[in-house]
Amino acid sequence: MKSVTAFVGSARRHGVTHRATLQLLDDLQSFGDVRSEVVFLSEYDIGLCSGCKACFIRGEEFCPLHDDRDLLIEKIARSDGVVLASPVYSFQVSAHMKAFLDRLGFAFHRPRFHGKAYTSIVVEGLYGGRGVVKYLGLVGRGLGFNVVKGSRIVCRKNPDTAHEPMLDEERRKMDEALARQSRRFHEQLASPPYPEPTMLQLFGFRMARTSIELELADDRRDHAYYRDHGWFDSDYYYPTRLGPLKRAAGAAFDWMAARSSKPREYHRAGR
Ligand SMILES: Cc1cc2nc3c(=O)[nH]c(=O)nc-3n(C[C@H](O)[C@H](O)[C@H](O)COP(=O)(O)O)c2cc1C
Repeated sequence: MKSVTAFVGSARRHGVTHRATLQLLDDLQSFGDVRSEVVFLSEYDIGLCSGCKACFIRGEEFCPLHDDRDLLIEKIARSDGVVLASPVYSFQVSAHMKAFLDRLGFAFHRPRFHGKAYTSIVVEGLYGGRGVVKYLGLVGRGLGFNVVKGSRIVCRKNPDTAHEPMLDEERRKMDEALARQSRRFHEQLASPPYPEPTMLQLFGFRMARTSIELELADDRRDHAYYRDHGWFDSDYYYPTRLGPLKRAAGAAFDWMAARSSKPREYHRAGR
């Protein structure tokens, strides 16, 4: 049995974002072995990041905000798959979703959700959904998830209540998109959780780990996290077999990162 948690960034319980999320989860459950939970971010206490960077530098437990962040992270940690669903607001995710992502900012420095499947649902009224799907893909990869391409749902005639249906054509397209997405997401849930990284993923890991090792002092949290996970010596974030080409490319990426790294003193000087 796989467990999936969907985080909804719309406060409207009868809105299109919630309905699309329920439909994706229903489609998923039709495959038979999925348990799901829907989390309305608007019903949780998520403070606004003030940018102090205590989480980056010292650790997330030093965040001055004491809210539901860790409870929500715990929900992700207990899940095999995660869905982020948001309406497009001013060409971006909703404020509820953005506040949540900002509170996870430290996890982009110290990714922790490897082995978990991830996808997104984005509902647009007029324009901007494609960019937000792309953005949420970047978010998922940055956090370490195995990302399944998200869906853009178009709802030009936005219903104010559940009793006003979407246009038939929009509904048909939504149904098709979510059916395809649920199949892809279910395949990902059933796939080996730790696939061989792509060349781009390998590049990102090697550049990050080498610059963190060379640039950051040992007492910086990112440095300690990478060291404690053995990432300064590993091929990738998790054990994997690299072929000869990727092994050679990995060594070249390490070399490139070492050449472009600034000395530790540069960062100590507060730049
Ligand atoms: C504050 C606000 C800003 C919005 N900005 C955009 C936008 O930039 N692009 C767009 O396509 N739709 C925009 N919309 C429309 C919503 O994306 C659309 O109505 C969506 O269906 C809302 O999802 P919901 O039904 O789950 O509430 C905006 C709506 C609101 C309330």
